Amino acid sequence: MSAHDAIDVIRAKRDGVELTGDQIRWVIGAYTAGQVPDEQMSALLMSVFFRGMTPAELAAWTQAMIDSGVRKDLSSLGRPTADKHSTGGVGDKTTLPLAPLVAACGVAVPQLSGRGLGHTGGTLDKLEAIPGWRAALTEDKYLAQLRDVGAVVCAAGNDLAPADKLLYALRDVTGTVESIPLIASSIMSKKIAEGADALVLDVKTGSGAFMKDVESSRELARTMVGLGEAAGVRTVALVTAMDRPLGRSAGNAVEVAESLEVLAGGGPADLVELTLALAREMLTGAGSDADPADVLASGRAMDSWEAMIRAQGGDPDAPLPQPTERHVVTAPATGTLTRLDAFSLGVAAWRLGAGRARKEDPVSAAAGVVWHATVGEQVTAGQPLLELQTDDASRIERALQSLEGAVGVDTDDVPLPLVVDRITA
Ligand code: URA
Repeated sequence: MSAHDAIDVIRAKRDGVELTGDQIRWVIGAYTAGQVPDEQMSALLMSVFFRGMTPAELAAWTQAMIDSGVRKDLSSLGRPTADKHSTGGVGDKTTLPLAPLVAACGVAVPQLSGRGLGHTGGTLDKLEAIPGWRAALTEDKYLAQLRDVGAVVCAAGNDLAPADKLLYALRDVTGTVESIPLIASSIMSKKIAEGADALVLDVKTGSGAFMKDVESSRELARTMVGLGEAAGVRTVALVTAMDRPLGRSAGNAVEVAESLEVLAGGGPADLVELTLALAREMLTGAGSDADPADVLASGRAMDSWEAMIRAQGGDPDAPLPQPTERHVVTAPATGTLTRLDAFSLGVAAWRLGAGRARKEDPVSAAAGVVWHATVGEQVTAGQPLLELQTDDASRIERALQSLEGAVGVDTDDVPLPLVVDRITA
């Protein structure tokens, strides 16, 4: 006979009664063990969606998710560790240059990452565009690579917050993803369990982000920073623009190519600026005063990248997959580009084959969108503005539909600053 009944927990939350830590630990544990069925957990999630969580409930919920698996201990590495998590955006490839850059500065980066779903890309999908590169690593290989190379980006194993895997899949099909306490506990349970000393959160805001407005992005950032600090992880969040996409490309191989430009000392200004801003936060959090701009200019970050890719079976010198079809969209007018809608471009890249609609779908390495100008820049009517890339010409029409209204010249839109806010404890 169990200590609690799921129905009592659901009724309490539904009626706005604060759940006890004991109730929360029980329900997360029992659901993960298959003793509470999906229909009861769905009802509880929907009650949380409408009622929210008190700080005490959120702390207990997050801890229960961490305790459903292991919390890794990286102290044997003998050097500081730091990680970054982005809430997901379009063209957001910062992890690719950032992880080797921070490693080249002497701070180890243990990044357990995910795949893309919907219009936002996934880091593992991008890296898999590199011939030979593998996302799965055994625990021993993971630790050895962290020690030898200083940076690992790989798939999370089943021992990392398994409750979140189950809950996230359930939220995805029950309309309960867009809840600040559920997003915060989902992200932070995994990141705390990962074991890094310091964590930097890149909370995206705007049409291409989970949180479309700045105030809810700030609230998500504050909630996550509070959870990280309470768990002993030095945590800072940057709230950053996702009203337009980041850099000049969205897709898989195209984003790897753009990241290589950054590592070689070039690349789009916004991507370089955000990569350096996040690197500085990670280094400061880990107690290092290295200057990432100097290290980037020295070429040492590129050396770390090559070592990181080779350690996971990839060939950093192999040509990246190229699309068989390209379709150019021209600028509609002459003037300042004031709108390049992140969500629309993300959906276009997804429809061209870069993303997946269901977890088990494959992605195309060569599909994506490249844009030749970004907001604030001058364009001339008729100049090539967007290039749609795919392996399947029949996808172009649907991608073009998603771009209706996505581009604006001299409109009233006011683009967000790249870094909108910095949130600390
Ligand atoms: N990413 C996660 O890992 N969890 C969420 O709930 C949302 C985004």
